[in-house]
Amino acid sequence: MLSSNRQGRRFSAMVVFGTRPEAIKMAPLVHELRRCSEIETAVCVTAQHREMLDQVLKLFAITPDFDLDIMQSGQTLTEITNRALCGLERVLGENRPDLVFVHGDTTTTFAGALAAFYHRIPVGHVEAGLRTGQKYAPYPEELNRRLTGTLSDLHFAPTALARSNLLAENVPADSIFVTGNTVIDALRYTVQPDYQFAREELNSLPKGARLLLVEAHRRENLGAPLESICRALRRIVQDHPDVFLVFPVHRNPAVRQPVFDCLLGLDRVMLIEPLDVADFHNLMQKSTLILTDSGGIQEEAPSLGRPVLVLREVTERPEAVDAGTVALVGLNEEAIVETASRLLTDDAAYRGMAAAINPYGDGKAAARIVSAVRWRFGLGGSKPPDFTPKESSSLESV
Ligand code: UD1
Ligand code: UDP
Repeated sequence: MLSSNRQGRRFSAMVVFGTRPEAIKMAPLVHELRRCSEIETAVCVTAQHREMLDQVLKLFAITPDFDLDIMQSGQTLTEITNRALCGLERVLGENRPDLVFVHGDTTTTFAGALAAFYHRIPVGHVEAGLRTGQKYAPYPEELNRRLTGTLSDLHFAPTALARSNLLAENVPADSIFVTGNTVIDALRYTVQPDYQFAREELNSLPKGARLLLVEAHRRENLGAPLESICRALRRIVQDHPDVFLVFPVHRNPAVRQPVFDCLLGLDRVMLIEPLDVADFHNLMQKSTLILTDSGGIQEEAPSLGRPVLVLREVTERPEAVDAGTVALVGLNEEAIVETASRLLTDDAAYRGMAAAINPYGDGKAAARIVSAVRWRFGLGGSKPPDFTPKESSSLESV
């Protein structure tokens, strides 16, 4: 059992995050922790992202207890690390929680785990154990998650594969819990039948058009790879007159410039600001095909039965590739055009990819994480059983 410095006070946890995907995936955990009477929960955001973080906080009605407000335009990795680490050093030092939760693989994740370690505070890593095995793919996330794993005491692995990655690195088996991914908990919160979009123009998309939804932002894809993606998108739209492309463009200026240069003003192309996550999830549900280099979208789309072409050479999320709903298409312009066109013209190929499966969760990941913490710190309850995916499970059936 892990010890804490409680001395009669309530067990306290601090949940640390800073970017859009961390916020989406930590929000269900914050809600679950706040329902748990034995744990006092504080939220600290670095605000490595500002607007894109605030959209999520608003939707999930989370008001941070601490906001480091570190984002600057064009920030470097060193600057983010530096500002996050200094801010967290102070917040953790003044508040001394019994446990710090971090999520995933961003620079905030790594800085949060390091700051907690410097204060000798145990770290719980949510979405632990994802690996490509390649130092620079994705960059810098692969090293962020490995370093965070080394600094962590509790590892909340979303899948059995993530658990086996950790075991292969000699992480003690009794510190790993297979919980499912909290992003599926978030989907259950956001996806609704007869959803009305907050972004008004999405309520009047052309009738009968097939929707292509795109999101791309990875650091290692900036420059030539992103330009190649954009050229491919332009050709796909031109080749298929019934296709309508929606691309909520990440706020990074290094993403915006090439996207706008190549796609702005084209017929049947809608470039819009990042959507709030309820709009985005419900738009995924209405899409015919999704093209992305995002991590989270690869986990969400299988639950919605929407095929995804991953615009990367490797993925740390092979479960849905194995299940057939996600295909790694890479960054070559011809390969992207060819694969997308096949799916748009070959109904059997499309249907082969469009099955709803749920390798990543059943909507109860946050509850398992809280149960694991209660058990591990002697607050009550027993060890939660591992998450195991059902053979066939759409979002409706989880
Ligand atoms: C970060 C994460 C990445 C994650 C991604 C999710 C790191 C190193 N990268 O990458 O793992 O996949 O978030 O989107 O942690 N910006 C704004 N407003 C915002 C957000 C970003 O203006 O709300 C602009 C700023 O100019 C900022 C730039 O985007 O400097 C890049 O943001 P940053 O967090 O450094 O990198 P991401 O590519 O977003
Ligand atoms: N997302 C969103 N609005 C958008 C695009 C994406 O809310 O306009 C959500 C998406 O549903 C997923 C998350 O953002 O939950 C993924 O974040 P991102 O692609 O920024 O990061 P990654 O998952 O690649 O780290």
